[in-house]
Amino acid sequence: MRISNDQELTEAVLGVMDRTQSPRLREIMASLIKHLHGFVRDVRLTEAEFREATSILNEMGKLTSDTHNEMVLMAGSLGVSSLVCLLNNGDGGQTETSQSLLGPFWRLNSPRVENGGTIVRSDTPGETLFVDGCVVDQQGRPIAGAEVDVWHASPVGLYENQDPDQVDMNLRGKLTTDSDGRFWFSTVRMVGYPIPTDGVVGRLLSAQERHPYRPAHLHALIFKPGFKVLISQVYDPSDPHIDSDVQFGVTRALTGDFVRHDTPHPSDPRCIMPWYSLTYTYVMEDGAAVLPRPPIK
Ligand SMILES: [Fe+2]
Repeated sequence: MRISNDQELTEAVLGVMDRTQSPRLREIMASLIKHLHGFVRDVRLTEAEFREATSILNEMGKLTSDTHNEMVLMAGSLGVSSLVCLLNNGDGGQTETSQSLLGPFWRLNSPRVENGGTIVRSDTPGETLFVDGCVVDQQGRPIAGAEVDVWHASPVGLYENQDPDQVDMNLRGKLTTDSDGRFWFSTVRMVGYPIPTDGVVGRLLSAQERHPYRPAHLHALIFKPGFKVLISQVYDPSDPHIDSDVQFGVTRALTGDFVRHDTPHPSDPRCIMPWYSLTYTYVMEDGAAVLPRPPIK
């Protein structure tokens, strides 16, 4: 091919993509080229900016390790992770969904907790939070015997694997739903936390005058054969960053009913006031029960 102008260049590249055997890869690459070439035209990318862009992508690769994923952090900070989640759940984006982002801190083999137990395993100062969850199918029928992994950051905003003051697996647990689809446990009230800002994402946030915080949330991963694994985050609407999550994860469907109580707890006289409660109904969608790969060990 002998190319005489930029339009012919795009046509030539699209022509090469056309030879791809896999129909899905062909579709993805053709669309990518159309958008990528269109983007370069749209912003009239300069040669210096192009060199800068390639070095930024290289840097993001080098920053990624077994314990840190700069690429996932960037995808979240640009809203791409949430977009993929919304398009692939809730009947293809038509209805609200309990699905959310997995995040970087899910661990396999959380210790088992009986309903009514606690996931606080070491001294963790904070206000008591009672969580009452219900797992249902898309018709609202309770799902009994679902395995529910829960995990969250501490009242100082650190997961146990980030914090030498917490014992292994603190604020993590695996529960099983009862015959009514319910699971319940106590913990301490979590707070929001900043994402890592010492890399490319941090520079982008500061250039855009964005804060790095995620609002307080409770993670859950729910497994039951016959249903798509439900990966969820339920957010506390009283968090100061509820309307400006740096990762764009907060949806109306994922906003939890967190309630502050200034009266004595009805059944636990040792519970110090104020205490908090969270009730939430998780809706599992039809699909394959395939667990994701844990992002950390
Ligand atoms: Fe989190």
